[in-house]
Amino acid sequence: MPSVRPVPAGLRPAAVVAAALVTVALVLAGALAGPLAAPARALSPAVVVTSDFEAGLDGWQARGAATVSTTAVGARGTGSLLVQDRVDPWDGALIPVTEVFEPGTTYTVGLWLRLPDGAGSADLRVSVQRDVDGVASYETLTTVEGVTSQWREVTATYTPGPFDTASLYVESVSSPADLMVDDVLVSGIRYTPDLSVTPVSDEVSVPFGIAVEPQDVLGGRGDLLAHHAEQITPGNQMKPESIQPTEGTFTFGAADGLVDWAIEHDMRVYGHTLLWHQQTPAWFFQRDGAALTTSSADQALLRERLRTHIEAIADHYRETYGEYGTAGNPIFAFDVVNEVIDENQSDGLRRSEWYRVLGPSYIADAFRYARAAFGPEVLLFINDYNSEYPDKRAPYLRLVTDLLAQGVPVDGVGHQLHVEVGRSIPMIEDTIEAFEALPVRQAVTELDVSAYRDSGEQWTAPPAARLIEQGYYYRDMFAMLEQHARSFESITVWGLEDSRTWLRSGAAPLLFDGQLQVKPAYWGIVDPSRIGTTPTPTVTPTVSPSPSVSASPSVSPSVSPSPSVSPSVSASPSVSPSVSASPTAGPACRVTFTSNDWSTGFTAGVRVTHQGTTALSGWTLRFTFPGGQQVTQGWSATWTQSGSTVTATNAAWNGRLAPGGSVDIGFNGSHPGTNPRPTSFALNGVTCTLA
Ligand code: XIL
Repeated sequence: MPSVRPVPAGLRPAAVVAAALVTVALVLAGALAGPLAAPARALSPAVVVTSDFEAGLDGWQARGAATVSTTAVGARGTGSLLVQDRVDPWDGALIPVTEVFEPGTTYTVGLWLRLPDGAGSADLRVSVQRDVDGVASYETLTTVEGVTSQWREVTATYTPGPFDTASLYVESVSSPADLMVDDVLVSGIRYTPDLSVTPVSDEVSVPFGIAVEPQDVLGGRGDLLAHHAEQITPGNQMKPESIQPTEGTFTFGAADGLVDWAIEHDMRVYGHTLLWHQQTPAWFFQRDGAALTTSSADQALLRERLRTHIEAIADHYRETYGEYGTAGNPIFAFDVVNEVIDENQSDGLRRSEWYRVLGPSYIADAFRYARAAFGPEVLLFINDYNSEYPDKRAPYLRLVTDLLAQGVPVDGVGHQLHVEVGRSIPMIEDTIEAFEALPVRQAVTELDVSAYRDSGEQWTAPPAARLIEQGYYYRDMFAMLEQHARSFESITVWGLEDSRTWLRSGAAPLLFDGQLQVKPAYWGIVDPSRIGTTPTPTVTPTVSPSPSVSASPSVSPSVSPSPSVSPSVSASPSVSPSVSASPTAGPACRVTFTSNDWSTGFTAGVRVTHQGTTALSGWTLRFTFPGGQQVTQGWSATWTQSGSTVTATNAAWNGRLAPGGSVDIGFNGSHPGTNPRPTSFALNGVTCTLA
């Protein structure tokens, strides 16, 4: 029986699939749904790959230097695939899926993995290679850590973008150990969104945008995107590494595909990003393979490269779509510099390669080059994350103020807003109000709201109560943003639906679920009366506003409290701080630790509540990282780390902690692959409870 079934005109159930396998596929696909997901419509599940290796290789081949054969040891039956003679991590086993994968369709991939007896342990990866016009992209579906000689069942979901050819393969992160694969089952489901619901853009008075990848404009996802958004931001395709991977070679194909789609759907395009310290090829900062120095010749070279890069992009889109500001050209704004702030530096500027070679001047230069290249019709933005935290807000404001004072053409300030359920909305509003004092437009550029409050939480799909809480959080966020609508050029969420978030699996931070159906988060914006209710409150209103909250005189009355579920209630004036201001008996402090994780790093928020009976006039919080994490940048406290022990000492403005009072501090960190949460916290030497 062939193991790969061509499905020529779209996916339909393969005729000869064993009923048991179909059942497994449906169960796996069902796992994609959050507990609150509406029944997905018009599903047509199809098993496209099934390999049990009981009668041969089932279409699998060696990848790279490896060799493949079958063994008599199965995960559940009597055969499996053995991969040997691997030299590099990417040597492995593959199966071509060109004929069976359909771009834009979501696949559930299930398989079993192990190492041969006595082989120790290795981190394995399930990946897909997509080739477009001879350019390969390698996408990791899942990394399976610590695989030993015991069979391990693995499932992952994947939505391919466009491809000429594609293959599914198993490799490793680093070890070239022999490995075994069995019972591979890949099923695809085409989801159909409900287009009878109100478009999000109808309910938001500011132009509403969604950041997209190429697969988001295909099939049902394209329908969903077109229904709800008025503009798009390419999620990766306009970054330096995508546009100019090697010097002088400009690759606009992927970005143009998105711009073309925007034109067809009468949408605007927000460009992202001309300059960044990440996703920028190393060649920018090298001469003949050696790092650029700060010599004037090297500085001139880097400035020239920056100018050329910006000009090439501006010229390309003018030549392809017509002059900016005319009907044919949808690009209305561009992030010129991204994430250049570091509040822990005395000048507030990130020590990137740009800074190392050029010093602070590169920021003004980038804006000047961009104005010269794009002309006056494209709004030039500076963009950053965590701009809501007072420590970051201050240098951000200072930089923009300085640039404007020097006549640098900065038109707009972007707030990424990668947050989690519960991040203080009044604190975000304070930042918006602070920038309203400057002659700039503002934009929410990358909003997502992780359902995880900290790195200790882990699930396939968030509990129903958390999704409802997230709905209330979206409601309160958009109610606050509406109060400032006149300041905003656009509000963009970073991704179309939860299965394709850039955050870790289970974060479910977006408005639609993996089956393209609306979530409570969607209702939070469109019709809060339909968010739903939860019997069990999962957030306790906090005892007192953080300093930045109390500094905000007016919290919009339209941010209505929902005490049982909405985290923003902690800052709502209608909930009196005295509600819980009286100290309770027991441990002297309580800590809430939240964390937004990605593959190598995380942003953590720490709320410390003083539960003692006398006010503190200064405080030190100490905790230990259990898994090799490192603080890279902290705010609202002085952060130090020694070994695994982290110490945060109050900043000048938040040293006083009344009984029952809270303080919000936070940091960015790196982790080696997993990020177990710290468990023991002590405030001024006294152990805290962890909420
Ligand atoms: C993210 C993309 O969404 C991911 O696909 C990519 O792997 C990493 O970058 N801030 C930004 C965005 O400005 O460019 C980042 O996008 C998310 C954080």
